[in-house]
Amino acid sequence: MDAFRIAIAQLLVDTFPSLTIEKAFEGVDYTSKGADFSVALPRYRLPGKPEELVQKVVDKFTPDEWIESVVPSGIHLNCFVSSKTLSRLVLDQVHALTHATASGEPEYGTNKSGAGKRVVIEYSSPNIAKQFHVGHLRSTIIGAFLANLYKASGWEVISMNYLGDWGTQFGLIAVGFNKYGSREELEKDAIKHLFDIYVKINADAEKDPSVKAEAAAFFKRMEDGDEAALTDWRQWRELSVKKYEQEYDRLNVHFDVYTGESQVGKASQAAALTQLEQMGLIKDIDGAKLVDLEKYKLAMAVVRKKDGTSIYLTRDIGGAIERYEKYKFDKMIYVVSSQQDLHVRQFIQVLKLLGFPWADQIEHVNYGLVQGMSTRKGTVVFLDEIIREAGSVMHEQMRKNEDKYANVHEPEATAEEIGISGIKVQDMSAKRINNYPFKWDRVLSFEGDTGPYLQYAHVRLASIERNNGELLPLPPPSEIKTELLTEPQCKAIIALLGTYPFVVEMTLKKLEPSEIVTFAFRLAHAISAAWMPVMVKGVEDKALAQARMYMYLCARDVLGSAMRLLTLRPLER
Ligand code: ARG
Repeated sequence: MDAFRIAIAQLLVDTFPSLTIEKAFEGVDYTSKGADFSVALPRYRLPGKPEELVQKVVDKFTPDEWIESVVPSGIHLNCFVSSKTLSRLVLDQVHALTHATASGEPEYGTNKSGAGKRVVIEYSSPNIAKQFHVGHLRSTIIGAFLANLYKASGWEVISMNYLGDWGTQFGLIAVGFNKYGSREELEKDAIKHLFDIYVKINADAEKDPSVKAEAAAFFKRMEDGDEAALTDWRQWRELSVKKYEQEYDRLNVHFDVYTGESQVGKASQAAALTQLEQMGLIKDIDGAKLVDLEKYKLAMAVVRKKDGTSIYLTRDIGGAIERYEKYKFDKMIYVVSSQQDLHVRQFIQVLKLLGFPWADQIEHVNYGLVQGMSTRKGTVVFLDEIIREAGSVMHEQMRKNEDKYANVHEPEATAEEIGISGIKVQDMSAKRINNYPFKWDRVLSFEGDTGPYLQYAHVRLASIERNNGELLPLPPPSEIKTELLTEPQCKAIIALLGTYPFVVEMTLKKLEPSEIVTFAFRLAHAISAAWMPVMVKGVEDKALAQARMYMYLCARDVLGSAMRLLTLRPLER
């Protein structure tokens, strides 16, 4: 697509010789408002009224193989590219880069801007023995998307899950496990069993203060590294991770590293504290130690409790230091709910005060709340409940259409995949920071801008090859007559395909998954608008049918690639 921008830039330079081609090029923008590209003339600070400048370019213009027409629109110059050139260029590029990764060139839509750079992305990070809430799910979905996005931009990505696997509650669970625990239940579903125990022993502790004291004493032993006190905990952690791994797998989410609060070394936490003390930043209040961040409007933050045990914030400080030592990252991202904005700002500020230059390379990707996600049984407690509910609600909906249902391949797996797509797409549809209400019927509808709709659009495209075998194999790309794709619906699709690499680049700057979601919907809509006027089946002219098929297959590839970026698994049937 840059070739078109260059052609427009050249036209500007021809009209205004004082402009350099680089400067002219920067001002040529993609547009979605009826023109293919648009130039805002005031941007160049040329002498004269913008409207008159626009007119000068229009007068100078003659159509060529790149630009078909230019139209004044106030202070903007709108430029329409030649459909013929567009089709040839874009489709051949999509085809070549999607199907010939062996050439070493990045796949269509990906780039190498991050080559040689490493990013650590921490996301999901649930707490063992506690509820997996929708906030964790959002972190999981957005974080996995970011991991894909950075990979697509050539970065080396380390996906990290930082489990809440340490803290006084593990003393409680230890006491609870003696009373209510069962090895068998633990093996069956560690996450659920530990949560049940936690609920029961918590209730006991409310009534009987000795339970709390016993728990505190037990956790103290764990903190002191008493092996006997750690054996059970280790198994709980291991089995929980195993179960989580299976569930993440169903979500198409994968981690390179499972770490957790328990893994942060005491030494690095203590060293950070000592340094803060030496810098005179610590205040002692009733035996607790606080770091004063009032100056940064970040309040006073406790970094050590009265009884000397470490806390969440201190572990994040020590944890970040250890991560830098280990990974020497160029960037580290925390995908954590905006409810923890203060916490994250506090530990980043402390790292800055400690003088770590890499603290500036930390980014907090935050997000708003999801309201009202529940299953038919009630409030959501576990991740597998969410996945199961998505699958079963979807399955019921599919069953309602008996004719279609009869043809569904592996209905349960398909339902689960579509259900999960629904949740993910809903979650990434708007700006991250927005709160949104959760409604199953909206999330799982095939109408409107939903995950099921994207899957449906992809399946429809995938069916083209299956239903038009007589057109296969297609001739080599250079012999496909793309100039026959004259309908405006074709141009709309192809122009979108052409902007995909640019959309990916821009998304990396904004870190908003909604940019890709919006792109995928625009493409799906353009395809659905073409479906009737631009048919493949029943077209007599074989060359025309093949050109159309070529376009739809390219559209399938790009839609599939956008969906994969969003962590979906595009369905074929
Ligand atoms: N486990 C925490 C929670 O559930 C989230 C951890 C976020 N990451 C961090 N480095 N603090 O609230």
